[in-house]
Amino acid sequence: MQYGYFDDVAKEYVITRADTPLPWINYLGSDGFFSLISNTCGGYSFYKDAKLRRITRFRYNNVPHDEGGRCFYICDGDTVWSPAFLPAKTPLDFYRCRHGLGYSAFEGRKDGVRAALTVTVPMHADMEVQKLVLTNESDTEKKLTVYAAVEWCLWNAVDDSTNFQRNWNIGEVEIEGGTVYHKTEYRERRNHYAFYSVNVPIDGFDTDRDTFLGRFRGWSEPQAVEQRTSFMSVASGWAPIAALRVSVVLQPGESGTLLYRLGYVENPADKKFESLNVINKEKAHAMLAAFETEQQFDAAMDARKAYWTDLLSRFTVKSSEEKLDRMVNIWNQYQCMVTFNMSRSASYYESGTGRGMGFRDSCQDLLGFVHLIPERARERIVDIASIQFADGSTYHQYQPLTKRGNADVGSGFNDDPLWLVACTCAYIRETGDFSILDAPTPFNNEPGTEVPLLEHLRRSLNFTVTHRGPHGLPLIGRADWNDCLNLNCFSLTPGESFQTCSNFESGKAESVFIAGMFVKYGTEYAALCDRIGLSEEAAAVRASVKEIEQATLESGWDGEWFRRAYDAFERPIGSRENDEGKIFIEPQGFCVMAGVGGPDYGKRALASTEKYLGNEFGIEVLHPCYTEYHDYLGEISSYPPGYKENGSVFCHNNPWITLAYCTVKDGNGAFDLYTRNAPAYIEDKSEIHRTEPYCYSQTIAGRDAKTYGEAKNAWLTGTAAWSFVAVSQGILGIRPEYDGLVVDPCLPDTMDGFCVSRLFRGTRYDITVRRGANKGLVVDGKPIPGSTVPLTDAPVCTVERTI
Ligand code: GLC
Ligand code: GLC
Repeated sequence: MQYGYFDDVAKEYVITRADTPLPWINYLGSDGFFSLISNTCGGYSFYKDAKLRRITRFRYNNVPHDEGGRCFYICDGDTVWSPAFLPAKTPLDFYRCRHGLGYSAFEGRKDGVRAALTVTVPMHADMEVQKLVLTNESDTEKKLTVYAAVEWCLWNAVDDSTNFQRNWNIGEVEIEGGTVYHKTEYRERRNHYAFYSVNVPIDGFDTDRDTFLGRFRGWSEPQAVEQRTSFMSVASGWAPIAALRVSVVLQPGESGTLLYRLGYVENPADKKFESLNVINKEKAHAMLAAFETEQQFDAAMDARKAYWTDLLSRFTVKSSEEKLDRMVNIWNQYQCMVTFNMSRSASYYESGTGRGMGFRDSCQDLLGFVHLIPERARERIVDIASIQFADGSTYHQYQPLTKRGNADVGSGFNDDPLWLVACTCAYIRETGDFSILDAPTPFNNEPGTEVPLLEHLRRSLNFTVTHRGPHGLPLIGRADWNDCLNLNCFSLTPGESFQTCSNFESGKAESVFIAGMFVKYGTEYAALCDRIGLSEEAAAVRASVKEIEQATLESGWDGEWFRRAYDAFERPIGSRENDEGKIFIEPQGFCVMAGVGGPDYGKRALASTEKYLGNEFGIEVLHPCYTEYHDYLGEISSYPPGYKENGSVFCHNNPWITLAYCTVKDGNGAFDLYTRNAPAYIEDKSEIHRTEPYCYSQTIAGRDAKTYGEAKNAWLTGTAAWSFVAVSQGILGIRPEYDGLVVDPCLPDTMDGFCVSRLFRGTRYDITVRRGANKGLVVDGKPIPGSTVPLTDAPVCTVERTI
C-alpha cells in the first residue's frame, strides 16, 4: 500500500494523506541553519549543532509523536484548520505534502479556502522562510484569522529538557512590530538570539506558551485561537513562544500571501545591545528585509532548486529501471548529503543530543558524498583525522562545534582507523588531489603535533598490523563495525554502556571483519604508495596484507562461509560450531570484496549468505538470532531476536553484499539484493515498512521479529553512502580511479544497458552501455583496451561500452 507517489520531474515525493504510518520527514538547509520538517509540518530547527544551538523545541517521545513544530491555524467562521492537518486535526477537504530537495510544500483546502504553504531554508541564510498563500475559492467573501506559532528551545537541547528548576525562570523575549525575538540567556553569556516574524502588520501576539494554549490544552486547540484573540502575553520565564495573529480578507477568487521568517543571529560580544538589555537587531532587520516579498521568496526557491539540479547533474543515469533511476538521480544522492551534514545527530529518532560525529560513520558517509562537493569532503577528512591518536587508534566520535574527540565514548573501536584510509583514497581517486596527503594534521587536536595526513593513514594501518591476536587476526577491541559485538566487555550491570564498559580486556578477541577490511584497504593504500613513489612502503604493506589474508584463510574460513570473530576465550563466533549466530553478514561482505580466497570462496560465501540470512527485504545480520543474553557477546545478544544487530536487516551492510556479488561478477545477485530494500522498490509495502519510501532506514526487522518487515530509524544511516557506491560503482560500474574513469558494469540479465552522465575532474563523461557482440570500450570514437577511460582535458567525453 502507498501513501503517495514519486514525481520524478519535480524531484518530489508527493504524500497524499496525512496519516502516514510514521511522520515522514524532510531536511532543509545546507550550511548552518537546519530544519527537519514532517509531512504534517512538525519538526525542529537548529544552528549547526543540534544539541548546543537548538532553536525550536521538539519532544521526541511526544504523544502524539509529531505535535508542535510549525503551528498554523486558519480560522474561517466556526472552523479552525491547519494547512498540513496538524496541529488543528480538522479533517481537510484536500491534503497534500510535497517533499522536495531542500523544501517542503503543503496544500490544504477547507470550505472553499486553499492554503498553499511552502517552507525552505534559503541558500546562505540563517533562517527558515515559510510562504503561506491563501486563496478564496468560494463565491463569498472570506474573513480569515490566521495564527502562526513556534515554541522556542532554550538553546541547549539537553538542558532544555532536564534543568527545569532553572529554565522555568530564564525565558525572555522582545516584541517589535510583527517580530518576536527570543533572547533567553542573551543577557549573560550568549551572543545569539532567534526571531519569528511575519511580513504584514499583526493584530496580536502571544509569547507565553501557557497563556496562549490555556490550561488543559495542547497545540491542537489553543485557547487564544478558540477565542479568536491574542492575550498579548510577554514571556517571563516558563516557556517562551512566538504566536502571531493576522487577519486576511479575501474576495472570491482572491489570494493573499504571508511570509513568515524564523531566523538565527549571532552578534559580536561588543555589539550585543542597542541599550541596556535591549538586543541589537541590526542583523535581524537586514535578514527580514532580504525576505520581505514574495518575489524574494520565489527567487530563493529558484536558487535552492538550481543548487540541487547542479549538484545532482554530477551523476545521472537513464535506464530501463525507472526506480533505480529515481534512487540514483534523486533520493539516494539527497540522502547522502543529509547524512554528510547530520552524521547520526538529528532526526526524529536520533535526538541530536547524544551522539557526536562518528569517526567510522563520517568516513563512510564520505564515500557517497565525495563526488558532490569535494572541497567539503577534504575539510571533513582532515577534521576527522585530527581526532586520531599518535599510535593510530582514535576517538570514536567528536562534537561538530568544537571538533574535539568525545571523551565519554573514548577509543578502542579497532575498525575506526581503517575507514580513514578508505575515505582518503576515495577522495583522491575522485579528485586527483594528492596534496591532501600533505595537509598538516594534528593528533588528538593538539597544536604542535601536526604531521602530513599521509602519516595518519600509515599509522592507521600500522595499528591493525601491530594489534593482532592468537590467530594472527586483528584484535577487535571494544567493537568493530558492529558496535554491539562486545567481546571484551562482560557487562552484568543494568544500564551500563556496552560501548564503554570493558572490564575484561582479554587482549585476545579477534575480528575476521577487520581482517577483510585490512586486505581491502591495505591493498588500496599500497596502490596509493606506488603512485607517490613509496614503492618500499607499498611492498611492506602488501606483505602485511598477505599475512593477514593468510590468517583469514587459515582461521577465518569456516568451510562454507567466513567466520565473524574469535571471542575472549579464542572460541569462534559465526561458525557452524555455534548453536546461534552461526553466520554473520559483515565478513562475507568485506572478505569477498577484498577477494580473500578468490571467486571460489566468494561464491560459496555468498550462497551461504543468501541461504541463511536472506529474506524478502535483504540480508539479515546473523542467523540464528541469539535467544538469550550472553555477557561474552555483549549488546548484540541484548536485543530481542530479529531487531537491530541481533538479526534485523541492518541496511548499512547490505550494499557490501551487493558489491561482493559484483566482485564475483554476479549481476543478477547484485541487482536482486539491491532491489529488495531500495526504498523506491518497496514503496508499495509502505504499510509494512512504515518509514519514508524515499530514504533508507537503519534497520528492517528480521524474520524472527514480531514486526517482520518494519523499518526503524529512518534517514541517518550509512546505508545511503554505501548504497550509492553499490549501485553507481558496482552495478552501473562507473568507478573513479587515479588514471581515469572505469566503466565496468555488472548488470542483471533484465537490463540491456543504460546511459550515464558523470562529471569527473572537470570533464563531463557521456557514457552509453549496451549489450552486443563487439565487446569493449570506445572513447570519442576510438577503441581503447581495458575498461578505464583515460583522463582528458576536454570538457566533454563520449564513451561507449559494449558488454
Ligand atoms: C550504528 C552506528 C555505526 C555502527 C552500526 C552497527 O549505525 O552508527 O557506527 O557501525 O550501528 O552497529
Ligand atoms: C547501540 C546501537 C548501535 C549503535 C550504538 C551507537 O549499540 O544498537 O546500532 O551503533 O548504540 O553507540
